[in-house]
Amino acid sequence: MIAVLALSPALLFGQNPPAAPTKATQGAKLFAQICAGCHGVDAHGTDQGPALAGDGTLRRRSIPELRNLIRKGIPDSGMPPFDLAADQLDALAALVLSLNEPAADSNVPGDAAAGEQFFFGRGQCASCHMVYGRGAPVGPDLSNIGRDMKLNEIREALLRPGARIAPGYELVTVRLKDGKTVRGFARGRSNFDVRLQDFNGTFHLLQKSQISAIQEEKQSVMPPLKASSEELQNLIAYLSRLTGVKPGAPAVAETAGRGGADFAKIEHSKNTDGTPVPLRAEGIDFARILNPKPGDWLSYNGKLNGNRYSDLTQINSTNVENLGVKWTFSIPLWKQFLPDTSYYHQNMEYFGLETTPIVADGIMYVTAPHSAYALDALSGREIWEYSRPRTPGTFGDASLGTNRGVAILGDKVFMVTDNAHLLALNRTTGKLVWETVMPNEPQHYGGTLAPLIVKDMVVAGVAGGDWGIRGFIAAYKAATGERVWRRWTVPAAGEPG
Ligand code: HEC
Ligand code: HEC
Repeated sequence: MIAVLALSPALLFGQNPPAAPTKATQGAKLFAQICAGCHGVDAHGTDQGPALAGDGTLRRRSIPELRNLIRKGIPDSGMPPFDLAADQLDALAALVLSLNEPAADSNVPGDAAAGEQFFFGRGQCASCHMVYGRGAPVGPDLSNIGRDMKLNEIREALLRPGARIAPGYELVTVRLKDGKTVRGFARGRSNFDVRLQDFNGTFHLLQKSQISAIQEEKQSVMPPLKASSEELQNLIAYLSRLTGVKPGAPAVAETAGRGGADFAKIEHSKNTDGTPVPLRAEGIDFARILNPKPGDWLSYNGKLNGNRYSDLTQINSTNVENLGVKWTFSIPLWKQFLPDTSYYHQNMEYFGLETTPIVADGIMYVTAPHSAYALDALSGREIWEYSRPRTPGTFGDASLGTNRGVAILGDKVFMVTDNAHLLALNRTTGKLVWETVMPNEPQHYGGTLAPLIVKDMVVAGVAGGDWGIRGFIAAYKAATGERVWRRWTVPAAGEPG
């Protein structure tokens, strides 16, 4: 059975189960009786009245304001007054507000566990989407979808995928002058270039000079959902509860990998010229880090021997004087993240960027305070950005926002935060895959270093020696963030050394 959703107020309004009727339940009932005729059964509007769901200005109104509006109507505009009992007005006002809240605040009914099963199973969602590091990074990462989207937007995204295309996922076919075509998402573009991501999660950094035509496609590659109304309800219950990767939460070791096996079955995984998209892009394995290709810089020092020597010969002592600026990329001012009273602000003139760019396959990864950027190394244009607010109350270098860069392995990049958490980001989406808190002890720990890859582990450590911390280095599984070992670099009281 294909879902007929609009008619289910329980699903639409996400109220509690019938055992505990709430304001929202009452509101949903009233709405169906007296408001739906003009505002639509799904609150998406009709020609008699505007949409009340997914409206940013309604979200900013208070319950008393909305009550008043409903009671008095809007004279001369077609919104009639409703002289209802106080609790009915409250219920309607609460309902209108709830239509415009992040889905996670809506307490959607349904079996979230069954929804998760559907997502990774029959629904094939994980062949295109990643959640908490599991699945494929073809479309947007959905780990925080309960906060990023409202209930009705999630529902709309599932039932009418083409109605609103997520920014950065507009579908294009680019015809190149050499006769090839590439189809995928225009993750970024300017008058001079397109940063195209194919369905395999691989980037094609195309300059204007290479391109002969760009064809825009208005549809989404996401197939409209085929599910029973129960499956749909469970799926929405699951999605609305996704509120982001939490520090220390166990990550899932097995990922479906880029593209994922199921993706092969989806017709969109062919280029328009009929050539199949290869299933797995080349990841970066440890052998490649040990012996980087000329032009790649896959670890902090270029090679693990640490001497920072490059085998490239194009720039040498006879022409080095001709080097000039090709592009610049401005990192947004760190100031915006912290209050003026912080140690950082008083000392900021001393610090600048300390990142060592990592370069792999034409993509450059740099860090700034609490943020990482993937750039097209040729043009300096941004592919993705990951950033989060700075941590108040950090100490020393960490409080200045110092960060020395990322490490890279497989489909992930790794960085530390100012408060000594280790993060793994997906290289295609730029979204957080796992987060580990490095210290167990409450001391003035910070983080500033670029992690180091050894085999399948990420080695990192902490800052804060100037503030009396007991330092350590530790190794974490790259796949999950689980700690493998820790080595104290300062002995405990009474220990030798
Ligand atoms: C006869 C049609 C009609 C009915 C019935 C109706 N409305 Fe309206 N409503 C409108 C119209 C038309 C507007 C737009 C008024 C304007 O833009 O000035 C509106 C506006 C609103 C707004 C403000 C929207 C905004 O974006 O500012 C709210 C809230 C609202 N209605 C809630 C309700 C509720 C709750 C009910 C049921 C109790 C209801 N309406 C019943 C026609 C109707
Ligand atoms: C063939 C690949 C593919 C499959 C399969 C797929 N999606 Fe999508 N999905 C996408 C793409 C690409 C986008 C972004 C473009 C768009 O908005 O249409 C997207 C967008 C979304 C969005 C909106 C995200 C946002 O930030 O706007 C949600 C929610 C979503 N998908 C959920 C699902 C669920 C649940 C399933 C399984 C039933 C699913 N998708 C199956 C490719 C897919």
